[in-house]
Amino acid sequence: MSGLAEVPVFEKRLLVTGGAGFIASHVVVSLVKNYPNYLIINLDKLDYCASLKNLETVSEKENYKFIQGDICEPDFIKQLFETEKIDIVLHFAAQTHVDLSFWHALEFTYVNVYGTNVLVAAAHEANVEKFVYVSTDEVYGGSTDEEFDESSPKRPTNPYASSKAAAECFVQSYWERYQFPVVITRSSNVYGPHQYPEKVIPKFISLLQQNRKCCIHGSGLQRRNFLYATDVVEAFLTVLKEGKPGEIYNIGTNFEMSIAQLAKELIHLIKKTSSESEMEHWMDYVKDRPTNDLRYPMNSEKMHNLGWRPKVPWKEGIKKTIEWYKENFHNWKNSEKALEPFPVTEPFAQLSGP
Ligand SMILES: NC(=O)c1ccc[n+]([C@@H]2O[C@H](COP(=O)([O-])OP(=O)(O)OC[C@H]3O[C@@H](n4cnc5c(N)ncnc54)[C@H](O)[C@@H]3O)[C@@H](O)[C@H]2O)c1
Repeated sequence: MSGLAEVPVFEKRLLVTGGAGFIASHVVVSLVKNYPNYLIINLDKLDYCASLKNLETVSEKENYKFIQGDICEPDFIKQLFETEKIDIVLHFAAQTHVDLSFWHALEFTYVNVYGTNVLVAAAHEANVEKFVYVSTDEVYGGSTDEEFDESSPKRPTNPYASSKAAAECFVQSYWERYQFPVVITRSSNVYGPHQYPEKVIPKFISLLQQNRKCCIHGSGLQRRNFLYATDVVEAFLTVLKEGKPGEIYNIGTNFEMSIAQLAKELIHLIKKTSSESEMEHWMDYVKDRPTNDLRYPMNSEKMHNLGWRPKVPWKEGIKKTIEWYKENFHNWKNSEKALEPFPVTEPFAQLSGP
């Protein structure tokens, strides 16, 4: 007996960025539980929408490591790849709130484009074996009936979507120039526990749970496709295993509803009413966003061919989500602020960049 503690040797070392946020926290929890031979390193700046409570079930596990840090700091990121010997990257960290992006466009460009470039450059230098960049259906811009596939042109209409599209170009260029194995995903709206209540589903749920009205932007006729968090986790695990280098994958669903319909559905479930006039009482139509795409119909056949399909029915997913927010609305210290119809913000944000 040497008396020295045994240092675990991991088969792979996987870096997840933004793992204290909504989607990536579900991904981290699943990876830590299902891949005990992988070390899962969660890099997160802990911005306002992050919560370490999202990771409570895995925080003490041997194959989990949290590092607080910023993807926009090149020296730190370079060193991270050197010291942690990363094999695979799943890049989720981003500024994600469309409403906020209209007022903070430069900050979105800085984090989403510059930060992604810093990360992919460091990953390339470190010879990482796979780099997954998590993008969005919003890069396609709105459509009424044209169904987007992965070769459809990018026509973003808001600063958030533009920054995600621009970041995709940087990532893709590493494949074109160096055959560096990048994979890009574009997913529909995701819902479920852990989402900061600035986004529409947790916002409407939380407002109704506090006996306040759902604030509907504009006409409420805009339609969105919603995927439950665990289905999206399955999609990322599929892309990790089966995703081909240089490829783009739509992660979508045919399940779609308008924002006004969504409000009615939540009023029905939370306020236990089906009367039109009572429903109207809980709906408050406010001014619209500067631009608000009508629909993002997407074809996800490429993902289906990899063996993935969404499984969780809306009724089941939304019930679990409503239950979760009853107990966890205060997981973020500024949750109340998230319930304003539009972000409460200074008109000219200070840009803390280089
Ligand atoms: N939520 C959706 O419906 C949806 C749909 C399609 C694509 N996406 C994409 O998925 C990813 C995750 O989205 P989400 O809704 O879970 O996000 P989120 O806003 O809940 O979490 C983002 C996380 O990134 C972290 N972060 C922000 N800036 C950082 C920085 N400079 N350095 C390190 N960490 C930083 C935050 O602290 C936070 O934990 C994003 O890239 C988003 O564009 C989201």
